[in-house]
Amino acid sequence: MSCLSCALAGAKTNKMKPKLLIVDDDEEIRTQMKWALDGDYDIVLAEDRASAIETFRMVRPLVVLLDLCLPAHPGDLDEGLATLSELLALERLAKIIVIARQGEKSIELQAIGAGAYDFLIKPVDTDEVKVLVRHAFHVVSLEFEYRQMQQMLGGITFEGMMGTSPAIRAVFDSIRKVAITNAPVLLLGESGTGKEMAARAIHDSSARKDGPFISINCSTIPEMLLHRELFGHEKESFAGAHAQRKGLFDLANGGTLFLDEIGEIPLPLQGKLLRFLQEQCIERFGGRQPIKIDARVVTATNSDLKKGMMDGTFREDLYYRLTVGQVVLPPLREREGDVPLLGQFFLQRFGAQANKTGLAFDHEALLALDRYPWPGNVRQLENCVHRAVIMCEGKRLTVRDLDLVPADQGPIPTLKDARENFERDMIQNALRKHSGKIAPAAAELGVSRPTLYDLMDKLGIPKE
Ligand SMILES: Nc1ncnc2c1ncn2[C@@H]1O[C@H](COP(=O)(O)OP(=O)(O)OP(=O)(O)O)[C@@H](O)[C@H]1O
Ligand SMILES: [Mg+2]
Repeated sequence: MSCLSCALAGAKTNKMKPKLLIVDDDEEIRTQMKWALDGDYDIVLAEDRASAIETFRMVRPLVVLLDLCLPAHPGDLDEGLATLSELLALERLAKIIVIARQGEKSIELQAIGAGAYDFLIKPVDTDEVKVLVRHAFHVVSLEFEYRQMQQMLGGITFEGMMGTSPAIRAVFDSIRKVAITNAPVLLLGESGTGKEMAARAIHDSSARKDGPFISINCSTIPEMLLHRELFGHEKESFAGAHAQRKGLFDLANGGTLFLDEIGEIPLPLQGKLLRFLQEQCIERFGGRQPIKIDARVVTATNSDLKKGMMDGTFREDLYYRLTVGQVVLPPLREREGDVPLLGQFFLQRFGAQANKTGLAFDHEALLALDRYPWPGNVRQLENCVHRAVIMCEGKRLTVRDLDLVPADQGPIPTLKDARENFERDMIQNALRKHSGKIAPAAAELGVSRPTLYDLMDKLGIPKE
């Protein structure tokens, strides 16, 4: 922890008073100020520029009261201004309140221009200085927290994707590896795990980052339209085709084409996609001329492409082409420690959008976020925090605002219950598959018939 953060932590926990530096060449004034402020702050004193800088370096106070009229050139305010600049160079966030004499208006303005936080006029009013110093400490602590948060976020995001868990770090590593190649990449993962974000991250960290990133969801468009969207069409190729039109492959030339929900792409288009992957050529709808395209293909799905291959709905040769690079986005429940982090991140983002500053989760809310299983993954968490920010009334977001059932209010199944539920499901599935016949079900489950009968008894599965 830096001295600055020690000081803040101390200020917050009241174990240690925040440090305040008073710089004045007049001993009487130093004593008077110390006396006025001693109760709330840990006061350190300096009498000239050199001792001010040295003390500042050692103590790292967050707030400084600085007399502008310092020796070695008393009456020459440059010494005060130079001290101000040097202190700010040491710590940009420090709040320096300058003290000037009546009638030194231009110098006050100069000091504010040079970064002073505020100014006081001699003779200083004790109540005024107390309010100003308190306010300065408040502002600097907020700014410092913000800086820490920025530093923290800067260190744990990868192309906008956030996370520190080993599972998500492994994803970042994989993205870095595939990004430097031109190979097709298949992104796998449950809904809301960040597949589209990962596709963009691949593009943004590749040599193609200045080229276009074109994205299409293959599941929402009928086959004919998808064909024309992807490959474009020639003039007069169908009724109403008054002009030639470029497709998304054309538009992605020099960049990346992201095909989302690739499992839904109809078989005839799978053939055309395969041809592109093999020859880097397309033909527009209604055209005969092969057109050379330089686009990198990234695809994503949350469906089981291997099952598609077995059912004959997904071409095996295409599957192997698409999976030269493969990145699996883990579900949020497997990203240890990422939920509170993402929660805080979304809280900052939506708080700022809603003009609600200083929002924070209360302790219960943080626990609830961490325990919730997040079946809808990052998208669900994002929406949940967004709604909570809109609904909350104070600065503290509660479990009520999150509208989640805290996991600890439902009964947690024991290991035995979980095992029995699993066994019951397996047996019922096998029996259903074999129309209730015991022998083939037992064979499939790898147990003897008497064992299966015993299990059915134990688990309360009817025999007929
Ligand atoms: N690691 C992350 N850091 C920050 N935001 C994220 C992260 N992962 C996902 N998000 C956010 O979560 C939301 C869902 O992400 P995205 O659309 O990339 O998921 P997806 O896997 O493509 O979902 P679907 O399968 O439903 O299409 C987006 O708003 C995205 O910005
Ligand atoms: Mg998506």
